[in-house]
Amino acid sequence: MIKVALIGFGCIAQSAHLPAYRVLQEKGKVQLVAACDIDRERFSNKMEINIGSAEDDNPMEFNKYTDWKEMLAEEEADMVDVCLPTFLHAKTTIELLKRGYNVLCEKPMALNYEQSTAMVEAANQSEGKLMIAQCLRFASAYTFIKDAIEAQTYGKPVSAVFRRMGGPPVRGWDNWFMDHSRSKGCLLDMHIHDIDMARFLFGEPNAVTCTTKDLYSGDDIVFSRLMYDGIDVLAIGDWAQEGTGFTADYIIALKKATVKMDSDGVTVYPRGGGAYMPELSSQSFYEAEIEFFIDTISSGAVNEVNSPSSAATTVKLIDTLRESARSGGSIVSFEK
Ligand SMILES: NC(=O)c1ccc[n+]([C@@H]2O[C@H](COP(=O)([O-])OP(=O)(O)OC[C@H]3O[C@@H](n4cnc5c(N)ncnc54)[C@H](O)[C@@H]3O)[C@@H](O)[C@H]2O)c1
Repeated sequence: MIKVALIGFGCIAQSAHLPAYRVLQEKGKVQLVAACDIDRERFSNKMEINIGSAEDDNPMEFNKYTDWKEMLAEEEADMVDVCLPTFLHAKTTIELLKRGYNVLCEKPMALNYEQSTAMVEAANQSEGKLMIAQCLRFASAYTFIKDAIEAQTYGKPVSAVFRRMGGPPVRGWDNWFMDHSRSKGCLLDMHIHDIDMARFLFGEPNAVTCTTKDLYSGDDIVFSRLMYDGIDVLAIGDWAQEGTGFTADYIIALKKATVKMDSDGVTVYPRGGGAYMPELSSQSFYEAEIEFFIDTISSGAVNEVNSPSSAATTVKLIDTLRESARSGGSIVSFEK
């Protein structure tokens, strides 16, 4: 049984991590012993975002703190779950790793590659493990296409388009998402899901080009092209679409089929006809992600799915996209 303490009881903690701990606690794998938020009100106000809402029926029992150092002095925890705003990820995670804790830290890993490599270094020197919560790597709608590409079920991929669009997240604590110095805009915050997925599916691109538009925080609308040998990849990240609702989808063409994912699920369109929807696991991907991490802690297994250095490389790719955007969308090679 892994004992968990959580830092930052905001939207992602309440709407995604808490329901996951509830299920994993029922399975006897984990116990959420305590949570901390500098804003005590967060423990009584229900948060709701595009990925779900906090459940307040049958609330979970755990101790509540407003200072995480005090929390960790009082509580016995094997793992700390960092759900803080992005600008606090590197500093907090490094301190926790120095204290020997296993750390699950929300994505994006950090504000830039330099901070991310410092986190990898701290993990290498710690008794604790580090995992960055790149949740799509655990989502059945994405592991389906990952497995199909690896098994060459539909042949080699030739193109991919990823989209992730919605309204500006003005809901955050102290409006931190809308402050570019603390969130780095949609380019880092939301677009990273699809950029990480492109790397997960296709590996490292040779070069990239990117343009962005500034409407709220800066880098609010992002068009990225990743250049590979034989595969064209386009990713659109956009948090400037007020009122339209949230959309995330992909369409991937392979030699023998096209695979499409949208709010209806995954549909395979084989060349020659006979479209079908494969049956996928209905487990929440946040639950799958947290279960995976606690299993690696319990078993001591090496994390081959989502290593800290891979998460850092994804941040490096975002930095490279920003470099392209700052030079008006020029082609920039990606130093692997
Ligand atoms: N995986 C996903 O799909 C996903 C979705 C949303 C957010 N996120 C990420 O999760 C992280 C948090 O985002 P959020 O939407 O929950 O933000 P949020 O602003 O709703 O929550 C952050 C919480 O941290 C608290 N906090 C701030 N400083 C603190 C401190 N020093 N000590 C303790 N608590 C402190 C705030 O009071 C707030 O409750 C971000 O990095 C974000 O990018 C991931």
